[in-house]
Amino acid sequence: MLHQVTIENTGETFRCGGEDNLLKAMEQLRCKGIPVGCRNGGCGVCKVRVIEGRYARKKMSRAVISAEEEEQGCVLACKIQPQSDLRVEVVGKMVRAVVARRSTSFSFEFSTTLHVFQPDKET
Ligand code: FES
Repeated sequence: MLHQVTIENTGETFRCGGEDNLLKAMEQLRCKGIPVGCRNGGCGVCKVRVIEGRYARKKMSRAVISAEEEEQGCVLACKIQPQSDLRVEVVGKMVRAVVARRSTSFSFEFSTTLHVFQPDKET
């Protein structure tokens, strides 16, 4: 079953199956909201805080997730599997880059005007 994951810092959403880890699913869908590092729980770059939702978790090193962080809902995106829709916030070392990326994003607004060129009539 697919669950919707929302990254609060960027507003990105993507779908992730209950058997897949969050980071892997995000990368497969070419999303970039959660920073990617070692992909195996060693660097802490993918640290997020789960704001809402249920998840299964694999063992995480105290070197990258302290007991205090764990109590606050912090986990490694490469080590959790969603069991419901999730809302997460990036809190790892790269959080400033994530926020900066969002603030430099922009949107386009298009307007269409049809210009019809008619060659001069030959006389
Ligand atoms: S990517 Fe390194 S701990 Fe998740």
